[in-house]
Amino acid sequence: MKKTAALLIALFSLFEGITQTAINKSEVPESIASNALFLHHQVYGSPGNLPIPEIDSLNSYPFALIAGGSKGIGYAIAEALAKRKFNLILIARHMDSLMAAKNKLESLYKIHVEILRYDLSQKEAAPAIAKWCTERNINLKMLCNVAGFGGSKDYLTLSLDSLRYMVNINIESCMALSLTLLPLLEKSAPSYILNVGSIAGLAPIPVKNMYSATKSAVIFFSYSLRYQLKEKNISVSVLCPGPVFTKPEIEKDTKKRLGWLGKQMAVSPKRVGEIAVRETFNKKLMIIPGTLSKIMAFVIRVMPRQLMVAIYDKVGG
Ligand SMILES: NC(=O)c1ccc[n+]([C@@H]2O[C@H](COP(=O)([O-])OP(=O)(O)OC[C@H]3O[C@@H](n4cnc5c(N)ncnc54)[C@H](OP(=O)(O)O)[C@@H]3O)[C@@H](O)[C@H]2O)c1
Repeated sequence: MKKTAALLIALFSLFEGITQTAINKSEVPESIASNALFLHHQVYGSPGNLPIPEIDSLNSYPFALIAGGSKGIGYAIAEALAKRKFNLILIARHMDSLMAAKNKLESLYKIHVEILRYDLSQKEAAPAIAKWCTERNINLKMLCNVAGFGGSKDYLTLSLDSLRYMVNINIESCMALSLTLLPLLEKSAPSYILNVGSIAGLAPIPVKNMYSATKSAVIFFSYSLRYQLKEKNISVSVLCPGPVFTKPEIEKDTKKRLGWLGKQMAVSPKRVGEIAVRETFNKKLMIIPGTLSKIMAFVIRVMPRQLMVAIYDKVGG
């Protein structure tokens, strides 16, 4: 049993390592370097100096807000919601991918998509987004906290700026958007919150110390919030994916290292989005897409923590 578990965890660690390394390379420097730029809270859907549009009169569909909805898992969640006739509010830092997502979703699904450009790691972002939604009396049925940042390096080797960014985007933003948008969700109840954790949040991983810690915080936060919001008829779910090929380099590296098995273990972003939305509406607490990831999650959760830490340490996270 221990041998099997170690093998599974070793494979999982390789996948997660690949995934998070790729995220790390492409996003940390840019995110930190761009913080000042995004302190301006640019809102492109409806700039603050123009009259507030009558969004409710566009159609009668409810809204879902996806923090990190322009690419990857967030876009897949947006698409699964668009199919179900939700209007969308997508939030991300880059205008080009936001515009591309808006154009595609509006033309394919005949829904309305608002795009807001924010750096969600900034503490001013959540209150500004909530204000924007409240002023427009948005019929908010669903909040999806997707944007996140990982890294394969131990926190001892990372700069304080990188670590703060990770904490802010993975936990602070999720906590702040949930709280500031709660009145609108309550008004539209029954409603839903979907937080994105990771299978990496199920156990401490020495090499990815802070990533697993932040994702475990997202999972615990979701468990408690679900309990607290039950009476308000707001259902809280947490998505905990294993490897998802959201970038070509992740797929390439995974296949190179693990070949056929790697292909079997990964779940496509589209499928993750579809499963996440379906199970959120089924009011499932923890959503783990893919059979192999489910098996791994089970093993990881039943193993003693100290043993898990040692195993992860041995296989290198
Ligand atoms: N991919 C995996 O294998 C995997 C596995 C387990 C868990 N997860 C989790 O799933 C989530 C999504 O991962 P992904 O692979 O889909 O990522 P992705 O493809 O890089 O997409 C991330 C999305 O969030 C936005 N975003 C990132 N940082 C942001 C910031 N500071 N402010 C506002 N928006 C921001 C991005 O747009 P901009 O870049 O334009 O801002 C994009 O829309 C993350 O929380 C991740 O930890 C992923």
